[in-house]
Amino acid sequence: MKLFATIAIGAFALAIAVPGAAQAPIVVKFSHVVADKTPKGQGALKFKELAEKKLPGKVDVQVFPSSQLFGDAKELEALLLGDVQFIAPSLSKFDRYTKKIQVFDLPFLFDDIAAVDRFQASKEGQALLTSMKGRGLLGLAYWHNGMKELSTNKDKLVVPGDVKGLKFRIQASDVLEAQFKALDANPQKMAFSEVYQALQTGVVDGQENTWSNIYSQKFFEVQKTIAETNHGVIDYMVVTNAKWWDGLPPDVRKGLSEAMAEATAYANKLASDINEADKKRIEDAGKAKIQKLSKADVAAWRKAMEPVWKKFEGDIGKDLITAASKSNQ
Ligand code: LMR
Repeated sequence: MKLFATIAIGAFALAIAVPGAAQAPIVVKFSHVVADKTPKGQGALKFKELAEKKLPGKVDVQVFPSSQLFGDAKELEALLLGDVQFIAPSLSKFDRYTKKIQVFDLPFLFDDIAAVDRFQASKEGQALLTSMKGRGLLGLAYWHNGMKELSTNKDKLVVPGDVKGLKFRIQASDVLEAQFKALDANPQKMAFSEVYQALQTGVVDGQENTWSNIYSQKFFEVQKTIAETNHGVIDYMVVTNAKWWDGLPPDVRKGLSEAMAEATAYANKLASDINEADKKRIEDAGKAKIQKLSKADVAAWRKAMEPVWKKFEGDIGKDLITAASKSNQ
């Protein structure tokens, strides 16, 4: 048996063989920004369970939920510095690394999560997983959350005119910024961990998110109306540091890959149930009104957000947008 003593040199770690001693497990930190009882939270915990079962004594997977270790602003940098090994940012948060992934943010591109799933599984969708390798990021899987709804601190939220002049928290995405500008609203990029307080204190009037995030972050307690717009998607890419991944012992990489594939299937199966259950909890709490929209109302939101597509067509690529559109079947 050999002990691999780990000596940290700057951002990287060097393993030195020491004969006759037991090998310490490789510490694998998985940091994310949502609660444990969300699709992503459950996926991360399942990944830990499976990885440690497949690789007994070889890996120690540590999950840090709710921005405990790193929040939105820092997690990608931390991954590239080797301070964390897995993160799963929403697809909206990669636009500094690739313009292509912005395709997922185009409003009303996907009819539902099934369409998103089909696109992610397609040749084009799979190619996006490795599209940031040159920047040091390797995508291992897509994880679902769900479709986005729109919420505000106003009583009326039915037509696009109802958000005119309002301030909205958005994720760090230029597409989402353009989306709210197209509605004559004022978007503000803000880390997820700061949203509740910003809504509570009126720093912003509204936000867009899934039922699961609206429930687990208690946004429904500080918003008056949630309109069922389903205008976009919040899904994730689980990414690792490409250099760290390539440097893993082959058996560990294989075990982690298998654990990731199984955790992905598990989390993606759960996601819509969690969102449905959280929607019901919000309804039952009776704090925010859930505004159903007619087909005509939805068409009006779609029309108001339409200019965003043209604006980003050059960056994203027309072919990719067409491929994604086709997934609606
Ligand atoms: C948000 O920032 O609203 C979401 O991306 C958070 C998340 O990870 O679901």
